[in-house]
This record gives sequence, structure tokens and C-alpha cells, in this order.
Amino acid sequence: MTTPTCPYTAGAALDPADAAFAADPHPFYAALRDRAPATRVRLANGSDAWLVTGYDQVRGVLADARFSNVPPRGAGRPKPDSPGQQARALLARHMLNTDAPDHVRLRHLVTKTFTPRRVDALQPRIHELVARLLQEIPRDAEVDLVDAFAFPLPVLVIGEVLGVPPADRDALREWTYQVGSPAHTLPPGALDDAWSSLHEYFKSLIDNKRRSPGDDLFSSLVQGELDTDELLAMAFLLLFAGYETTMNLLASAVLLLLTHPEELAEPHWPHVVEETLRHASPLEGATWRRTVEEVELTGTRIPAGASVLGVLAAASRDPLRYPEPNAFRPQRWADERTPPSLAFGHGPHYCVGARLARLEAQIALPALFEAFPGLQLAVDPGQLPYRPGLLVRGPRVLPVRTR
Ligand code: HEM
Repeated sequence: MTTPTCPYTAGAALDPADAAFAADPHPFYAALRDRAPATRVRLANGSDAWLVTGYDQVRGVLADARFSNVPPRGAGRPKPDSPGQQARALLARHMLNTDAPDHVRLRHLVTKTFTPRRVDALQPRIHELVARLLQEIPRDAEVDLVDAFAFPLPVLVIGEVLGVPPADRDALREWTYQVGSPAHTLPPGALDDAWSSLHEYFKSLIDNKRRSPGDDLFSSLVQGELDTDELLAMAFLLLFAGYETTMNLLASAVLLLLTHPEELAEPHWPHVVEETLRHASPLEGATWRRTVEEVELTGTRIPAGASVLGVLAAASRDPLRYPEPNAFRPQRWADERTPPSLAFGHGPHYCVGARLARLEAQIALPALFEAFPGLQLAVDPGQLPYRPGLLVRGPRVLPVRTR
């Protein structure tokens, strides 16, 4: 296999906002991986980062306590000089940004609540939400499936998990959308207002659950040992870890199926979902880690204090683990020797919502193709815009013709 030359190893800065890179970063990751499973790269913002691209090495980083999840103080964060930014800083103190022993305590409280049985009990509600969204999609029309389906469904499902009253879900959806958008695309002040609104909303949600708990998962957490600040950050993490990732999984699966129509003949949905997670990893990179001491990774020395990104999307296309890694082949999951993709991470921070995300996709995808058997892409797939950045990956819009 020939791999294109990678400009980023030749000293040029990697600009994650570059549209060509966002559209297809895989040739670059392949070139980095060919060179070494961990490579130091200069980013366009002037900082240095180590990108880890080999399957075994990414797995190793995610399970190794020498790579810390605690962000360096103040790094990459705007100064909390407005109520909106103060709310943002408070909501960021969640367990994905902690190491043991704090992390073990926080995570145990969540996994105690997020049992497989309770997650599976959401099944009938997910069917109802999917059916309602599909009814609202017009027939014989051009529709953006991200806007009409892939975005609202995960937000509505997290609304169920958090026990958000149905009347509040539109507001939650709107604030979620705004805090996930670059400030310059919103009216002045809107971003700060959205952060403050989310903060206020979660605060009153916690008060309500304390007074009258429901049978939702979040009510059980509120009854547990977490204090109010920890509950606020937890509500925020569940919302944010769960919505854009699942949105990307749904949108990428639809895109892959529409561009590989032979896979729609007799789809095995769990295999379609696994292969989408591998081929189009919804999180491109894990969250940033920082080395607490010098670490040697397959012959490469990473100094103490380095920023390290385990590139999940690259690991899940490592040819040492997956034959023909760039091909979309759901059947590969029929072979039980296929190693699990790293789409949900690995080790102590392994995704708490993996079961829920799989369940959601396995309900939503067949229902969509049953409702619209003649679904077609309305644009050239090569022209679809992708969200810039190294952390999440998926088409920003997905225009289709419904039939
Ligand atoms: C396709 C959908 C999803 C993908 C691809 C995904 C992926 C991931 C990954 C890779 C991590 C680990 C990140 C790291 O180690 O830096 C993670 C953590 C996490 N995810 Fe998910 N996730 C998805 C959906 C969800 C959902 C639906 C929820 C909640 C209901 C959720 C909740 C969490 C939480 C709470 C963590 C932090 C766990 C910890 O720090 O111990 N995720 N997710």
C-alpha cells in the first residue's frame, strides 16, 4: 500500500480546521503511523502535541496512569470572567477530566446507576422517540438528516436519562446546539447566555429531583453521594459525551450505507453499527492526556508534561489489526477474532454510554430505512462539510431525498 507523504511530519503545522484535513484525515494518520506509532506534531496554534496512531499504542495510552486526564490549570480555557464562562468552567469539572482516586469514586456512582438492565429498559421509549421523529420528516422532499434525525434523537434520549420534562426539551436542544457552536456563528452574547441557561437549568433540575425524584437514571444519581457541583458537572458530561458522538454515529452510518447500497440488501444491524464505529470513529481522538513522567512507547520517548492525543480513528484503521482497514465491511464483525474498535475508548475511562449508544443506533437505523426505503443522498458525498478539529468527527449536514 502506498501512503501519501504527510506534510505534518516535514515540519509544517497541522491545522485541524483545514477543510481538506477535516474531510479526510486518514491519509495523514496513515502516514504518521507508518513513520512511528507516536509522533510529535506542531499544531497551527503554535503548540506541540504527540499524536498516537497505532492500535496497540492507543490502547496502551488509554490504560496507563502515566497519561493523566487532569487538564493543566488554566490551559486552553478562557478566563472565567463572565457568568457564562464561570458556568462553563464549573460544568467542565467532570470525571472525564479526573484521574484515580477521584475518578474511581465518581465513576462507580454512575456505573452503579447505568446498569445494563436500566439502559435496556429505555428501549420502548427510544422506539417511540424514533417513530415520532420519523413521522415529522416529509416524504418526497430534500431534508437535512442531521437536523431532522441524527441531532434531535440523542438529545431527546439523554433527556430521558436525565429525566428532563418533555416541555423543556426544545430549550435543552437549543442551548446544547449553541454551546457546541463556534461563537462567531451566533449573535453576540448568545454563547455566554446558553452556558448560563444550561447551568441554571441543571441547578433547578437537581433541586426538583431532590424534592420529587422520578424513575429516571439521573434521579438515582441525585439520591446518591454526589454534591451539587459534582451533579452539575455530571449532568453536563452525560449530555455532552452522549449527544454529538451519537449524532455522528447515526449520520456516518446513514452516509456509509447510502454510499454502499449493497450493504442494505440484508443488513445485519449490530455489524453495521460496529463497522461504522470502527470506520467512522465518532470521536476522532480521545480527550487529551498529559504525561506525568517520561514514557517510552514502542521505542519513542515522550517527555514528561507532553500533551498526548490517542487518535481513536487512526487506531481503528490500523492495518496490523484490521485487514483492508479503509474498506467498509460490516461482515468482518461476523469473525469473532476481529478485535474491538477503540471507538468507545479503553481502560478506566471506557465509555459509560456505549450500551445506550449501540441500542439507539440499532433501533434508529432499521426504522429509518424501513420508513424511507428509497432514501438517497441529495449531494455528492465528496462535497459534504465536516466539523473541524481533532476531537469529534462526522458530516455537519446530510442532505437526502426521502422516498
Ligand atoms: C456513539 C456514541 C459514543 C461514542 C463514540 C463515545 C465515545 C466515548 C469515548 C471514546 C470515551 C472515552 C474518552 C477518553 O478516554 O478520553 C467516552 C467516555 C464517556 N462517555 Fe461516551 N461515547 C458515546 C456515547 C455516549 C453516551 C450516549 C453517553 C451517556 C449517556 C456517554 C457517556 C460517557 C461518559 C460519562 C464518559 C466518561 C467516562 C469516564 O470518564 O470514566 N457516551 N465515550
